[in-house]
Amino acid sequence: MIFKPHFYTKNEVFCYYICALCLIQNTNTINTNNPVTQTEQILPKVKYTIAVSSGKGGVGKSTVAVNLAAALIKEGYKTGIIDADIYGPSIPTMLGVADEKPKLVKINEKNRLLPIVKYGIKMMSIGFLVDPNEAVVWRGPMAASALKQFMSDVEWDELDFLLYDMPPGTGDIQLTLTQSIPLTGAVIVSTPQEISIIDARKGAKMFEKVNVPVLGIIENMSYYSRQDGTKEYIFGEGGGQKLAGELKLNFLGEIAINTDVRIGGDEGKPIVLGKPDSQEAEQFCSIAKNLAENVISKAKLQPKLPVIEI
Ligand SMILES: Nc1ncnc2c1ncn2[C@@H]1O[C@H](COP(=O)(O)OP(=O)(O)OP(=O)(O)O)[C@@H](O)[C@H]1O
Ligand SMILES: [Mg+2]
Repeated sequence: MIFKPHFYTKNEVFCYYICALCLIQNTNTINTNNPVTQTEQILPKVKYTIAVSSGKGGVGKSTVAVNLAAALIKEGYKTGIIDADIYGPSIPTMLGVADEKPKLVKINEKNRLLPIVKYGIKMMSIGFLVDPNEAVVWRGPMAASALKQFMSDVEWDELDFLLYDMPPGTGDIQLTLTQSIPLTGAVIVSTPQEISIIDARKGAKMFEKVNVPVLGIIENMSYYSRQDGTKEYIFGEGGGQKLAGELKLNFLGEIAINTDVRIGGDEGKPIVLGKPDSQEAEQFCSIAKNLAENVISKAKLQPKLPVIEI
């Protein structure tokens, strides 16, 4: 029986949140060695889960995450985003839903949060639930618990792809978060600049450490297209491709730097939807297509566990 959904009061949010965190902290921790089994357990209707990550901050992870999500929707895939950047959530702003509040419904006697939906993309972010200033002081395990709740207590329904917009860095918090989510794989976003590449390399190593396959490198802010059609390599040239070669990873593609990409993020309409004919929208779409085909073809090659009939 479904109860009439209603908007949370601040107190309800807080109580529900704390209760849920306590419950979750008492449940088993996730075994990171078998992401397929984990996804089946915690997100039974989600086919593929992908972390959008980087070592360095500000290289465009959130921008890439929302544009990839929009491009995957355009390709016909059911897609969602979890804003895993508990300390600096940007997904609500970048998708133009900063003032929305998720509804709480009862399904099979259990409280379930309904994801916010915009442009067909389902999403959940701490930014919808608590004042971001409160979350800033949370320690790693508390942030990880919130993230687990986004998987276990949100009614995602069927999804082909669920993207996680990760916080920057490769420290304890990132490692804890990475170990808390069942991942099909991760993509690493970097600019071509050496200091970003060094951190991207650290990011790839972090995923390797917890046995999460890196699905490829995406180079953002690769160049600026001048009006005469020539390119200006503001942050250097070819860094992403070089890193992919060095680590024997897929190079998924590059995205130019363009004011319209920034405006799309600030105004809550990703460039893939706002200016679909632009060079950058096409670059995002080609990366998304590449990534999806890659993930699906790899999954087909994985042996399935035998079904035991009794
Ligand atoms: N290709 C691009 N062209 C122009 N601006 C861009 C591009 N990619 C990202 N930006 C802008 O750069 C800034 C940083 O991007 P974004 O917030 O996506 O980075 P991030 O890696 O998620 O940052 P953080 O590490 O803080 O989470 C934003 O203002 C965004 O609009
Ligand atoms: Mg971000």
